[in-house]
Amino acid sequence: MQVSDHSPADAPAHTGMGQTVAKVILFGEHSVVYGYPAIALPLAGLRMIARVEPADGPATLTCLGWSGPLRQAPARLASVVRAVDAALEHVGRPDARLHVTTVADFPPERGLGSSAAAAGAVIRAVLDAFDTPADAEDLFELTQAAERVAHGHPSGLDATATASTAPIRFEAGRTEPIAIDVPAWLVVADSGVHGSTRETVGHIRERHEIDPQGTDPLLADLGRIARDAETALRDGDAAAIGELMDAAHARLAALGVSDTHLDALVATARDAGALGAKLTGGGRGGCVIALAESRPAAERIAQALEGAGARRSWVHAPQAREAAA
Ligand code: MEV
Repeated sequence: MQVSDHSPADAPAHTGMGQTVAKVILFGEHSVVYGYPAIALPLAGLRMIARVEPADGPATLTCLGWSGPLRQAPARLASVVRAVDAALEHVGRPDARLHVTTVADFPPERGLGSSAAAAGAVIRAVLDAFDTPADAEDLFELTQAAERVAHGHPSGLDATATASTAPIRFEAGRTEPIAIDVPAWLVVADSGVHGSTRETVGHIRERHEIDPQGTDPLLADLGRIARDAETALRDGDAAAIGELMDAAHARLAALGVSDTHLDALVATARDAGALGAKLTGGGRGGCVIALAESRPAAERIAQALEGAGARRSWVHAPQAREAAA
């Protein structure tokens, strides 16, 4: 996008824009890190937009509630700084002067993929500002460089899903689009509690090292549940998907990545008529998802979840339409 022609010599020639979206993991969070399949949905209505503008002085960053010199960004934004640097290295201008700004429709640290989405949007904006084309593989690798700073050993699911326009199946680095045609609605509810994917992934890694016999069966179960869910999603069997969501939540809780807020919200969703409910993303904070058989049922569940303390909720039709509750 061409916005300005006048810029300092070591700044981009014009403004660049990049966009990604939030994601929810329907099945397979955590077990995907161990090579099992996962299914994720991009939420097209919840955007992350990045803008890169030429600057006169040192680079600045305005992102996820913080604004200041890029080189003084707090540790929680280290992955976004890495995204800027990775993209600048890619375009061959590591010291370029620029202002980087992100604006998001969804909160950070809630299992909705904000770190991957911010990195992906910033990378696209830098590349756009320097008129540098990149294929999907380049964009994935650049985003993963930032995600490694955020999570240590990311599976790549978030980097892929937040840049996707359709539901995906992801397994051991391979992505395929997956057709979802289920007569059901998805409620996403934010517990309001910040979650740290780095911590929960680290918790399972430690647990796996100390107690592989206790941990492996739970991870394998999550993998089997994701495989069964693929069939149920293809067959449009909403009741089966709901049961599989309940089963997945139980395994994630047994792995120690749920918490009392998430368990309470999952129970509230079920009491309010959900076909099934589970945490989504890294856990220990963040969001839950619940499956509803109709839009009115989804709205009732969303209301019950907000009554039980959820900060916000969104209602999403997995096939096509989407709206905020
Ligand atoms: C986080 O959104 C998903 C996890 O499976 C981590 C990963 O896939 O890298 C918990």
